[in-house]
Amino acid sequence: LVPSQLSARAVDAVRALAGRDAEGEDLDEMLKQIQRTFVTFRLEYKFGLDEITTKVGILREQFDLTYDHSPIEHVKTRLKSVDSMIEKTVRKNCEPTLEAIRANILDIAGMRVTCPYVEDVYLVADALRRQGDLTLLQVKDYIAEPKPNGYRSLHLVVEVPVFLADRTVQVPVEIQIRTIAMDFWASAEHELRYKFAGDVPPELSRTMSEIAGTARSLDEQMTALRAELAPPSPRPGP
Ligand code: GTP
Ligand code: MG
Repeated sequence: LVPSQLSARAVDAVRALAGRDAEGEDLDEMLKQIQRTFVTFRLEYKFGLDEITTKVGILREQFDLTYDHSPIEHVKTRLKSVDSMIEKTVRKNCEPTLEAIRANILDIAGMRVTCPYVEDVYLVADALRRQGDLTLLQVKDYIAEPKPNGYRSLHLVVEVPVFLADRTVQVPVEIQIRTIAMDFWASAEHELRYKFAGDVPPELSRTMSEIAGTARSLDEQMTALRAELAPPSPRPGP
């Protein structure tokens, strides 16, 4: 965060998170203090992400042995930076306290899984949903119901227990599962929105909308082709 570019609301959030009420405090100093506070706060999310990474790694290895193709193409994780946590706190009108952030910002720990076929997306999601230690907090199926701009993806928010030395914490992790075609589109669309600072020219939005249709049709054609290639894969055994 660049102190001189912070909005008034962001400055208020920074001041609250730093536990200062006095006006005219040094913003740089407050930001440094928040960075220190968030080191511990973010650690739990890192551990949650580690747990989910292990789970998905296990699924991937087992799938690889059981299926004629690998249902998981690629896995990527990210932890939200302190800056974007503060930005989201302000954008979502979230109270600027660690408790409120913990309760309301569910994508501090994020994983993205890309799969070759649409069916694989649900295969991976179902395998995760069957895991007894995970609590499903949220499902958003933008494949069944794409966003108006054409965005497709399956989003799960799960809570995973993390066993610390002195206590157990439940950590939310957002898992985005999508096909390679969906991911290709979403990456380009994200870049475009970034480039135009959210104000993408209408003709480019139309182009993205068309490409979304092409991506969707690619997924459908690949599913049809796959049916020709091989009989449906067996479900993995124990
Ligand atoms: P955020 O405040 O952005 O997290 O949105 P949300 O809390 O309403 O949740 P939603 O499930 O809509 O989006 C969560 C995440 O999915 C976003 O942070 C993006 O990573 C991704 N996403 C959602 N919509 C789009 C989109 O239209 N384009 C792209 N490229 N990504 C999207
Ligand atoms: Mg998000």
